Parts: sequence; C-alpha cells; structure tokens
Amino acid sequence: MIMRMIGTGSSLPQQIVTNEDLSKIMDTSDEWISSRTGIKERHLAKEETTASMSVEAGERALRNAGIKAEEIDLIIVATITGDYITPSAACEVQAGLGAGRAVAFDINAACSGFMFALHTAYAYLQSGIYKTALVIGAETLSKIMDWSDRSTCVLFGDGAGAAVVRVCEKETKEKGNGRGLLAFEQGTDGFRGKVLACEGRKNRNPLIQNSFVPSYVNMDGQEVYKFAVCTVPASILRVLDEADVSVEDIKYFVLHQANIRIIQSVAKRLNVDVEKFPVSLDHCGNVSAASVPILLDEMNQKGMLARGDKIVMSGFGGGLTWASAVIEW
Ligand code: COA
Repeated sequence: MIMRMIGTGSSLPQQIVTNEDLSKIMDTSDEWISSRTGIKERHLAKEETTASMSVEAGERALRNAGIKAEEIDLIIVATITGDYITPSAACEVQAGLGAGRAVAFDINAACSGFMFALHTAYAYLQSGIYKTALVIGAETLSKIMDWSDRSTCVLFGDGAGAAVVRVCEKETKEKGNGRGLLAFEQGTDGFRGKVLACEGRKNRNPLIQNSFVPSYVNMDGQEVYKFAVCTVPASILRVLDEADVSVEDIKYFVLHQANIRIIQSVAKRLNVDVEKFPVSLDHCGNVSAASVPILLDEMNQKGMLARGDKIVMSGFGGGLTWASAVIEW
C-alpha cells in the first residue's frame, strides 16, 4: 500500500511584523533576535483566526491535490490555539470546506502536532478505514504569548499549513517511484513537560475561591534547546534506520522551525550539509504545529520536491514531544 502526500497548502496572516517593529514596542533588537534565532520577521494575526487560516490552507492543499472537499474522509487539525474549546478547529474546517463526508478532530502535540496528526492519518489509511485525509497544522500563537516576556514572544508567529494524504491503490511500490511513507517514529516525555508550558483555564466553580489569572506561554529556553539538539538527531537516525535509508540518500531535512541554531546543530550532529535543511523561520518565526507543513508547502510551490525524492520531516516541542518520518515524495 502506498500512502502519498498528494497536495500541500498554507496560509499566513497579512500583517508582517519585523524585529525592528518589535524593538519599537519592547526592549529588544534585530541584532539580538537574528543572531540568537535566525528570525527576521513573523506574521501575526489581526482578522485571521486559527480556523480561517486552516480553511484557507486546506482549500489550497485540495486545489494542489486536484481533489474536491467531498472526497475527504478524515480531517485532523494539530493545534494548541483553537478558536474554541469546542467545536474543534477540525470541525470548523469541515464546515468551512464543505467536507460533508469527513470525520474531524484535533490533536494537541504542540510543535510536533503536525507530525503526530500525520502519523494518526497514516494509521487510519494503513488500516483501510479511510482513503483520503486532510492534515493541518495551525496556530494563532500571538494570543497565548506573554507580550511582556521578550525572551519568548519574539520567537513565535501565526499561520497554517496543510497536506492531503491518500492511499494510492493502483501504484506499485517500486524504488524511485515515490513510495510515500517509509518509516515513522514519535515519542513523548511528560516528565519534563513544564519546561515549555501554557496553563489552561482555572476552575472557577462557586465552591472554590479562585481569582482568575490568565496564563501565557512560559519557557525555559535553554532546557528546550538542549532537549531539541539531543532528541532530534537521535530520532532522525532511528527513523532512517527503520526505513533502511542512509543520511546521504536524503534530499531535504524538513525540521520544525524553532531556531536556526537548533537546525545547524542537528545538521552538524548528523554530519549533513546545512544546505539540505530548508528554512522558513526567517520570515515566519516559530509557528508550532504549522511550521513543518508551511515549509513543506513553500518547498512544493518552489518545485523543490520531485517524485522519488527522499525527505525527512521532524517535529519537536512542548509536551515534551517529538516525531520524525521518512517519506519518498
Ligand atoms: N531581546 C534582547 N535581550 C533579550 C531578549 C530579547 N528578545 N530575550 C532575552 N534577552 C536577554 C535576557 O534578559 C538575558 O539578559 P541578561 O544576561 O542580562 O540576564 C540575555 O538576553 C540572555 O538570555 P538567555 O535566555 O540566556 O539567552 P539564550 O542565549 O539562552 O537565548 C533563546 C534564548 C530563547 C533564543 C534560546 O534559549 C533558545 O533558542 N532556546 C530554544 C527555544 C525554542 O526554540 N523553543 C521552542 C521549541 S518548540
């Protein structure tokens, strides 16, 4: 069975906020942000919502795949910033796209969210339950940032990315023919979860004395950095081993876009030219679950992905969570 990614799409808010713009409203500088992270600017939502960007990214992915909304069996949205607690972002996407046949639900795995959602979709496809899935990573992180904490708020952005995955029954699984998913692995470490956290609602039932203090993203940047540079290369090597593919055979390493120094460190640990690690964080910042699919769509739109190319995708972040996959385009 071949499970192939047949279309991608993305959507970014119109408003672009540069490091220079941020330096006018807080004590920071382009020099500090660029040199420590590689981020130059990010898109921040004004009118856009997690659902509106998800729908737009989804529409574009369907167009790119050349299929209609009625053909989708499954919609999974990975997000930690849905517009509602219920309905889920995925249910909003179902309605927005008119995907009447689909079943829809959300997944929360923070910055690994798209990869977890993709794996869940693959599992449904592999089991024969569904044939076509729309997988979306979408975030409006600007609404959960502490804008008085310059060490976190400058890192993140808003946006959505989407991919259509489908069982291609008539195609044969020959080498170079684009065999789709070759291997996948994912993991979590809840014991260290609080190094990157955003608390939910407090219980305000009338029996409890509880003054409401909204909670925003709180991060121990150095701990997260250490986690990423150790975990990601190990995860990539495991998944390559499982796929029986060597590091040299990989055309691109599509990593979660958190920080250019994390990407450079992973490249060094894998002994791979950093040129094989495409980047979107310079103009998007860290868009959590949306990072990988936005980057993938940018690469697809630029014609960087040809049938038979082997690609590694890897996500990591809050939870703590991580997930990697090897696919043949
Ligand atoms: N502008 C200017 N100065 C800033 C700043 C900003 N936006 N944010 C923090 N600083 C200051 C700090 O106050 C500190 O000043 P001090 O030395 O006077 O106390 C100094 O810069 C160094 O701060 P520190 O937190 O030690 O910086 P760092 O070198 O660890 O870099 C990160 C911070 C966040 C860039 C880095 O830890 C990182 O990239 N971590 C990974 C985070 C990540 O990717 N998270 C998401 C994963 S999904």
